[in-house]
Amino acid sequence: MSFENKSVVVTGASSGLGAVLAESFAARGASLTLFARRQPDLEAVAERCRAAGGKAIVFAGSVSELDDCRKLAGAAEAEYGGIDVLVANAGVSMWARFDETEDTQLFRDLIDVNYMGAVNCVHACLPAIKARKGVITAVGSIQGKIPVPLHTGYVASKHALQGFLDTLRGELDGTGVDVVTALPHWLRGTRLRSNAFAKDGERVGEGRRGHSKESVSLEACSEAILRAIERRDREVVIPWKLRLLPWLKLIAPRMLDRIVSGEMKRQG
Ligand SMILES: NC(=O)c1ccc[n+]([C@@H]2O[C@H](COP(=O)([O-])OP(=O)(O)OC[C@H]3O[C@@H](n4cnc5c(N)ncnc54)[C@H](OP(=O)(O)O)[C@@H]3O)[C@@H](O)[C@H]2O)c1
Repeated sequence: MSFENKSVVVTGASSGLGAVLAESFAARGASLTLFARRQPDLEAVAERCRAAGGKAIVFAGSVSELDDCRKLAGAAEAEYGGIDVLVANAGVSMWARFDETEDTQLFRDLIDVNYMGAVNCVHACLPAIKARKGVITAVGSIQGKIPVPLHTGYVASKHALQGFLDTLRGELDGTGVDVVTALPHWLRGTRLRSNAFAKDGERVGEGRRGHSKESVSLEACSEAILRAIERRDREVVIPWKLRLLPWLKLIAPRMLDRIVSGEMKRQG
């Protein structure tokens, strides 16, 4: 698949991976519809997309609201005549032990954005994507396959997303629509950590937590995701070697627990 003049919807495009993905698509001549809640940040990303050689419109709303997602799909179709690619990327995280969380609302919020947000966007965009035999992509996480301490609600939401996409792929077999699941490990340069829910349900804010040695740049992650969409791969794990972790969960789960706990302690 070439992205020249293709209509691409990116959710969570106001910062981090979504913003870099949008610019990468634009540099390949795509026509973008950018979605998130912060309109001024979306406008700035759209400007960068136009400067990179693509077209871009913005639509402000929440992935948790099916009605906003329907309006998003309508805006993309009205502007570009259809949708070739959806990248369901919007997400939010947490950083707290379960037994210290003060309420369960943050678990509902994580499901509302990371799981239901993707379900809403896929539901709204699927008829248009089917018409063009396009691609549904969602940004999950390697945490959709393995346990990670301090992230119970996030891990659960990404496991739900993984199950949804794997099943949807089978249902869409024969329609010409492919489902690509992107599973990044830690990424540098996003708002995910400062914006994560803390034990009191408030945002963690800027901290001095170190990043993992394994963390990946947004540009490298974005390039790997675009390559996977071009090839209509089922799944892309970034970096590639982390594909071993789900295997380790099967054959040596205690060893995996020790490795992941050690990593989380190093990150403070
Ligand atoms: N950072 C990592 O280490 C890492 C690792 C693996 C996977 N991921 C995944 O990568 C994706 C992108 O995250 P990121 O790291 O780039 O973090 P980020 O910089 O915080 O970006 C998250 C994006 O999601 C949007 N968003 C959040 N809630 C939303 C809602 N209700 N409706 C619409 N948009 C919403 C945010 O925009 P607004 O606030 O403007 O709405 C923002 O554009 C997420 O799915 C995340 O789980 C990240």
